[in-house]
Amino acid sequence: MLNFLVNQQVCTKCGQCVADCPPRIIAMESGFPGIAPEKESLCYKCQHCLAICPTAAISILGLQPEESRPLAGNFPDPGQLEILIKGRRSVRRYKEENLDPALLQQLLEVAWHAPTGVNSRQVLFTVVDDRAKMAQLRDEVLAGLRLVVQEDGLPEGRGYFADFVRMWDEEQIDVLFRGAPHLLIASVPANVPTPLPDCVIALSYFELFAQANGVGTVWDGLAKWAINDLVPTARRTLGIPDDHLIGYVMAFGPPAVHYSRTVQHGPALIQRMV
Ligand SMILES: Cc1cc2nc3c(=O)[nH]c(=O)nc-3n(C[C@H](O)[C@H](O)[C@H](O)COP(=O)(O)O)c2cc1C
Repeated sequence: MLNFLVNQQVCTKCGQCVADCPPRIIAMESGFPGIAPEKESLCYKCQHCLAICPTAAISILGLQPEESRPLAGNFPDPGQLEILIKGRRSVRRYKEENLDPALLQQLLEVAWHAPTGVNSRQVLFTVVDDRAKMAQLRDEVLAGLRLVVQEDGLPEGRGYFADFVRMWDEEQIDVLFRGAPHLLIASVPANVPTPLPDCVIALSYFELFAQANGVGTVWDGLAKWAINDLVPTARRTLGIPDDHLIGYVMAFGPPAVHYSRTVQHGPALIQRMV
């Protein structure tokens, strides 16, 4: 039941909801927009109808337009967004403290607005939200890797994991998680239309919003390989559902490093159709 409701007092019959609906299931019925019951199952709950209505006349899925944030004049300044994109850095040094739980919750809720293929919205965020739990996970992964190394079980080309174990054991240098107090794993059921892009886009949004809030992040391919391929018990410890693909892993937390300027990549690799 979509609960598609139109406030006829304010609807101007402009037809924008009809024109913008991706599965084109909204039609003008006796002058006002409506969705025929037999078409309801085609809705993929993108809420474009609620978002586009200039007079806030449309409610769907029990959501009221007044609860949405108005957009006019509220997008960030493009110059600032450019600085954020160019000034974001992989953070590999962290303070030994947890992030404020309210801020962490906000980062996750905002990142959850990232787009997903056919709006499937099934990305699961598994979070290590406490540095004591992070230490526990680190110990488990390193213990698992130690065993794999002892049994000569590292796959071809992954010999460097032996160095990571040695660096931890001899120098307490944490290459795997970069000493971060938190970890975020984005996973999805393998059967969604676009599993890996959904995860990577969600983590990209998380990263940019985190760094805009002064939180450090680093994409953690080493952790992903370790958790997913080399030490499968860690997957279970984290509670990643068996039918999920791990899209990617990101370490994050309060940074112990401060960058003073952007880097200078470029020119971009671009080609145009001739
Ligand atoms: C998919 C992906 C995986 C990465 N894995 C790791 C990792 O395991 N450990 C690490 O320290 N950095 C990792 N990085 C960070 C890259 O090394 C980094 O983005 C690159 O050197 C550019 O630096 P910048 O992010 O500060 O611009 C990864 C980045 C990406 C995009």
